[in-house]
Amino acid sequence: LHMNTLTGILFLISLVFIFKFFFTFIQDIIAQRITRDLYRTVSSRIIRGWANADYRLLYLQTSTGYFMNILASVLWTFLGAFQNYGGVLVSLIFITVYLGFSVLLDWRITLSAVGAGMVVFILFRRFMTLTKQYSLRVVKEDERLQGGLVEFMQFYKYLKSTSRISTTGQYLEDIIHRATHLRFKIAIIGGFLANLPESLAVILVSLLLYVEIAFFGKEFSLIAVLILLFYRTFMRVVTLQSSWQKFLSGSGALKVIPEALEKIAKLKEQGGIIKKDKLDNAIRFHNVSFSYDTKLILSSISMEFKKNTVVALVGASGVGKSTIVDLVSGILKPTTGEIMFDRIPYQNLDVSWLRQHIGYVTQEITMFNGTIADNISFWDDRPKEDVMRRVEEQCRKAYCTDFIERLPFRYDTMVGDRGINLSVGQRQRVAIARELYRGPDIIVFDEATSALDTESEQYIQKSLDAIKGTKTIILIAHRLSTIKNADYLYVIDQGHVLEEGTFKNLYENRNSKFHQMSVSQQI
Ligand SMILES: Nc1ncnc2c1ncn2[C@@H]1O[C@H](COP(=O)(O)OP(=O)(O)O)[C@@H](O)[C@H]1O
Ligand SMILES: [Mg+2]
Repeated sequence: LHMNTLTGILFLISLVFIFKFFFTFIQDIIAQRITRDLYRTVSSRIIRGWANADYRLLYLQTSTGYFMNILASVLWTFLGAFQNYGGVLVSLIFITVYLGFSVLLDWRITLSAVGAGMVVFILFRRFMTLTKQYSLRVVKEDERLQGGLVEFMQFYKYLKSTSRISTTGQYLEDIIHRATHLRFKIAIIGGFLANLPESLAVILVSLLLYVEIAFFGKEFSLIAVLILLFYRTFMRVVTLQSSWQKFLSGSGALKVIPEALEKIAKLKEQGGIIKKDKLDNAIRFHNVSFSYDTKLILSSISMEFKKNTVVALVGASGVGKSTIVDLVSGILKPTTGEIMFDRIPYQNLDVSWLRQHIGYVTQEITMFNGTIADNISFWDDRPKEDVMRRVEEQCRKAYCTDFIERLPFRYDTMVGDRGINLSVGQRQRVAIARELYRGPDIIVFDEATSALDTESEQYIQKSLDAIKGTKTIILIAHRLSTIKNADYLYVIDQGHVLEEGTFKNLYENRNSKFHQMSVSQQI
């Protein structure tokens, strides 16, 4: 080999390294930009899909922690894995370039080095498989943890009052224990794979160079350049190894994210496109049946909810009253039969449009962490004075003005998580004010008063009286005094309509089930 070949190669190497700087830097910018945009795109697809999912399918097919974990952690791992995949490709390019130069300088020593490197790489593959498996298990544990944490907080009071809090805490700790141990193992394998090759490489290169000098009598200047190239190559191999391993350790995410996107597409709620926001005549059920899998809940129900009337659903617990309400709001779809909104079949209706005009008050607490005014106006962004005027107006109708005005911060009182700072009866009245604030056409009261004391119930009774005749009301309640106000009643039994009529008619018929129930107050 001549001196000017060597000079030429040295010059080329310098050029390559200048190019390398720009290349790596630009590659980094591109990778970060892709990461940012991909996170935005994928997470908004997930959030929108989540919001537009079919309620029942969502609860059947996902756990509480599922989408939370994806947004909080899996997606980042996914993007990390993605970046490392880019790193793998770049390393491969550099390795090819370096090895190209080495081959030019001495093909024999280069090929021996590559051969030895490959053997090591194959030996390492077992660890790669392990990494992949562990990473999938980490995703599952994290999902469990997210769900568990939500419940821990949500049911904190119950768990504390029944001394189950430490068991639940232990359950969470166990998950963390397993997940961190898996992560630890992944990291140890990573460390092993990242550090061992360098030592092996130094030994290997020393050996090869020794052979070159001792047996083939190569020039020292050539050896020096070879050392530089080999060193760079091996360092790149190390980067390649660790990028590949990081890629694999994120591979759980690489499997989970596409699955999640597929799942969310399948969960999408089906519906029509007709936007009708006002009830002109009635909502009608024609022979509606509903089952969960094979379990028949409602069979061949026909009923009518006339505009601006109060219709009460009466029946024991578990007979299907809430299911009827969920069919009205389109949250559940009938298995057979048809529901009509005026003359439009529900399946042709844009139900999310319809739901904007349905108010819904349940026994469950639906309070958001914010002020009372926020909870009623639902963070309405109209001018504050307008909002407050409306809030106060609806509070009068919902009979909550008295207690609110006695609070130190009145409408600006923070209700706490799920309304913890208010009594159950107060929360319920605030919830009613919120529904009234939206000005819905139809209001559902599903056992809204069941958990209340008589006094709170009377307030709600009064607010019902106040809105009666101006809205279509579906009322599920247990006290006779509440039901008395209904224009029409359906007595539901075992998923059938057993009796129907006005309160007076049903009550006066001494043979009716309703009469029996009324007498024994078992409504
Ligand atoms: N996700 C579900 N899977 C299977 N059965 C269910 C599900 N949800 C409710 N049910 C059953 O449906 C029946 C009717 O429930 P529901 O309409 O809530 O009754 P009600 O409101 O009259 O007390 C009950 O027997 C209940 O066990
Ligand atoms: Mg119910």
